[in-house]
Amino acid sequence: MLFDTHAHMDDRAFDLDREELLAAFPSQGVGLVMNPGCSLASSRNVDRLTRQYDYLYGAVGSHPDVADEVNEAVLEEYGMLCKQNPKIKAIGEIGLDYHYEDIPRDIQKQAFRAQMALAKELNLPVIVHEREAHEDGMKMVEDFPEVTGVFHCYSGSAEMAKWLVNRGWYIGFTGVLTFKNARKAVEVASAIPLERIVLETDCPYMAPEPFRGKRNDPGKLYRMAEKLAEIRGLTVEEVQRITTENGKRLYRI
Ligand code: NI
Repeated sequence: MLFDTHAHMDDRAFDLDREELLAAFPSQGVGLVMNPGCSLASSRNVDRLTRQYDYLYGAVGSHPDVADEVNEAVLEEYGMLCKQNPKIKAIGEIGLDYHYEDIPRDIQKQAFRAQMALAKELNLPVIVHEREAHEDGMKMVEDFPEVTGVFHCYSGSAEMAKWLVNRGWYIGFTGVLTFKNARKAVEVASAIPLERIVLETDCPYMAPEPFRGKRNDPGKLYRMAEKLAEIRGLTVEEVQRITTENGKRLYRI
C-alpha cells in the first residue's frame, strides 16, 4: 500500500473525474492520500473532501502564491477547521517561492511566519513549499524549532536535506525523481535516512516518467516507489512499507 503524501485532488484539473479517481485509489494500491490546501477556498474544499473518503486526509493553509490573502480572519478559520475536523492533520501548503515573485518576498515571509506560528499553537506538522528560497526557508525553520513537517517536492541540496532531517523534518519526493536529468534529487534520495523520505505525486503537476507533461494522479505514485527502490537497492514492497510508515508518522495518522 502506498501513501501519496501530497495530492491536490481539489484542483480544477480533476473537476470532471474526481469522484472516479478518488474511488479508484484502493484498487491502484494507494491506501492513503494527503490533500494539502492551497488557499482558503481550496482548504474549505479539502475539509469537505476528507469527510467523503476514509483514506483521504487534509491540510489547510495558504500557498506562497496567495500569501497576500493571509490575515487574522483566515488564520482563525484555519484554526477552526483543524479543531472541528480530526482528519485535518497539518498546516499547508505554506512557504516561500521566489521563482516568479508575483507576491513580494516580505508578504510571503509574513504569511509563512504567521502560519508556522499557527502550527506551533495547534501542535501540528507543516507542509512546506520552498522554491529558490533556501536561505530564508532555513531561517524560518531555525526560528520555529518546535515546528517540523515536510519539505515537499524537495529541490535543495543533500547537505540542506541532512540539516533538515537532523532537526526532525521529512523530505518529499515527486515524479522529478524519475526524470532523466534528476541527478540532484537522486543524490538527495541516496544521502538521507530512508526513515525520513516520503513519496508524493503533487498531482495534477509533476507527473513521473513515462507520463511527464501529462496530468498526474495518485495512481502514478508507484513510479516514484520503483525509482526509490532502485536508488536504495530495496524491493518495491520494502519501499512501499517504509515510506507509508514514514507518512503516517509525519502526519500522525
Ligand atoms: Ni503542492
